[in-house]
Amino acid sequence: MAKHQSQDHARYQNAQSALLDWYDRHHRDLPWRMPPDALKKGGRPNPYHVWLSEIMLQQTTVPTVKSYFAAFTQRWPKVTDLAAAHRDDVMAAWAGLGYYARARNLHKTAQIIAQDYDGVFPKGEKGLLELPGIGAYTAAAIAAIAFGQKAVVVDGNIERVVARWADLQTPLPKVKPDIYQVMSGLTPSLRAGDFAQAMMDLGATVCTASRRSGEQLSPPSCLICPLQPTCATTGDAAAVLPRKLPKKKRPDRHGIALIITDGQGNIVLERRPDQGMLGGLDVFPGSSWADGSAAISDYPIMPESPIGQFRSLHGSGQKLNQQAEHIFTHFRVILDIEKIEILDAKPQLPASMRWVAIADLPDLALPTVMVKTARLAGIM
Ligand code: ADE
Ligand code: SF4
Repeated sequence: MAKHQSQDHARYQNAQSALLDWYDRHHRDLPWRMPPDALKKGGRPNPYHVWLSEIMLQQTTVPTVKSYFAAFTQRWPKVTDLAAAHRDDVMAAWAGLGYYARARNLHKTAQIIAQDYDGVFPKGEKGLLELPGIGAYTAAAIAAIAFGQKAVVVDGNIERVVARWADLQTPLPKVKPDIYQVMSGLTPSLRAGDFAQAMMDLGATVCTASRRSGEQLSPPSCLICPLQPTCATTGDAAAVLPRKLPKKKRPDRHGIALIITDGQGNIVLERRPDQGMLGGLDVFPGSSWADGSAAISDYPIMPESPIGQFRSLHGSGQKLNQQAEHIFTHFRVILDIEKIEILDAKPQLPASMRWVAIADLPDLALPTVMVKTARLAGIM
């Protein structure tokens, strides 16, 4: 037993130092990242940059984040600048990244940091966790990367590397506590931030996610992997990890988007309520998105609903042949597009709606599904 434990300990230590050595030589240069040599010379990462990049990277890939990160930091060089920005400007700058709750929370957190924390981020996971939009992963990542704390960081890449390195056969999500425990044992007290980022880079470039080609799963690049000497699995056996419970099929929802114009270059937009789908964003008015259950009833548009009354006053529109399709996390939406041109005097709009110039649409924070709709309707 004692022998077993000391072997295990040596295996963890070997993996740790092999990975940090690999990171010294092969880390990715990323705009928000303090390179390991600069960090060793006493360089301090900018917590604002670390936080901003981590929020952006939550559901978006590194190449896409790079340009948004550059735009945000150029326009708002400090967290206090972001706090002072108008929310609409932040939302518009975020447009295209999706998951807009992230942008709302980003702005809220910037304001809390500016107002309650004198512009200085808390250094510990506990304090970070209290901020809007910062969950367990992000709190650990910021504590480790920005402040060098020994926090246990587990994202999707790290889950994969650890499940393979330790040969964990239990499927996600049940395996998560085991993954956390192994990562906790692997994480060094010194260079915890570099270590977490090394695992992320390894997952992105070497211990890569398997893609299915025909019957085969593409294996990771174990031959060039610094963890190979200590890894419990390899090749095809690694490719099937982490195991996952079979996915539920994404259901379809159906809806109608109305393109209401006045023949003079203006169009009607509706501001969604803050809570819920596309909260706080501008959309084209229309039906709710029916999921096939009776609970959601405004599809097709009900004549007595505000938009239904509006439509019956101004004549039902002309339906386009094409539908806009967009995939969200839990469903796919398929929107019929209906054009209504109002040529008589501009009518009173329901309170949530307003006229905007069609020429201004590109500058607004339209969510991607509405950009697709506008393109199909030929107005963007
Ligand atoms: N993904 C999320 N955070 C990251 C980071 N700091 N470096 C590389 N990839 C990441
Ligand atoms: Fe992943 Fe292979 Fe490296 Fe193990 S040896 S960590 S399976 S790339």
